[in-house]
Amino acid sequence: MSALLTEPIDAFGKVILFGEHSVVYGYPALAVGIPGGVSVQHAVRRDKGSVVRVKEWGLEAHTESSGSFADALRKALELVPGKGDVEITMQTRLPLGAGVGSSAAFSVAITKAIAYARDERLLPVTVRKIAHEIEHIFHGSPSGIDDMVATFGGIVLFSKSGIKDLDIRVGWVEIERCGYLLSLRTPSLVVGFSGKTHSTREMVEKVRKGFLASKESTERLFMKTKEALEEGINALRQKDLKKLGQALSKNHEALKELGVSTKESEEMLEIAKKAHAIGGKISGAGGGGAVVVLAPGFEQECLNAWKEAGYSGFILPSSNFIIWSSKN
Ligand code: MEV
Repeated sequence: MSALLTEPIDAFGKVILFGEHSVVYGYPALAVGIPGGVSVQHAVRRDKGSVVRVKEWGLEAHTESSGSFADALRKALELVPGKGDVEITMQTRLPLGAGVGSSAAFSVAITKAIAYARDERLLPVTVRKIAHEIEHIFHGSPSGIDDMVATFGGIVLFSKSGIKDLDIRVGWVEIERCGYLLSLRTPSLVVGFSGKTHSTREMVEKVRKGFLASKESTERLFMKTKEALEEGINALRQKDLKKLGQALSKNHEALKELGVSTKESEEMLEIAKKAHAIGGKISGAGGGGAVVVLAPGFEQECLNAWKEAGYSGFILPSSNFIIWSSKN
């Protein structure tokens, strides 16, 4: 079989705008896809033993190796229909453990790549289902928002209790029970990396300990997050950037109280504010990882200010409602 792909195989990264952590407890969350998060360059059948390589992560995992990526490879080989070992090479723009959905994008990409190499066609909902199983290897018990966004991209509302109870006025399409693509456009956002990687599993566990110690005050923070999400979605619909910025910062206050922010993340948000950001928050599990800020017209200034202070980042351009990005 030729090593050239006859169709693009990719998976989105993600930026959570509202609702990380509370989503694990059934509250709604909103995330936007990062196009080209992980792209498969090469996916072919081979005779004995499978291998997956991701150069940017220095990763080479074999069916016989140990570690979570090798476990993920074995799980994907077991769950994807068809038979046969595979050789896969991927390319990524997502740093690992940095809050932008690297493991979910990997899980989606490997699922699609194995299906491609085995000449099987999977519906996007099947890709997502398999990727969700693989995500358990990385995160224990993921809510599902990361694999949903990694599969479908666009602006995804993840809500186990549906959309109807939410105080939002927006067009939407149900892509799966608990997953909705919203008919919105996000403005340009600036995503920054603290340089400190985290374990999502550990951060989720930290929040769980807080929840068990004080259910009432944790639920209050989850409610505040839900309010921020509703305000944020309505602000997006009305293109009211000031209100959107306030909603992001309101969500951050709740995350800070949950104990998942760090000195570095706080410093990054302070630097962004001085560079004219009008709101921002940590994005993802916290404990380092990523921040996302809204700095209309000052995106580059914000990035430059972070760079001067030793942090990195990128501008996520304004994004539209996308149904899905590729054929697999
Ligand atoms: C991680 O990207 C988001 C968390 O809410 C965990 C999850 O939803 O599984 C922290």
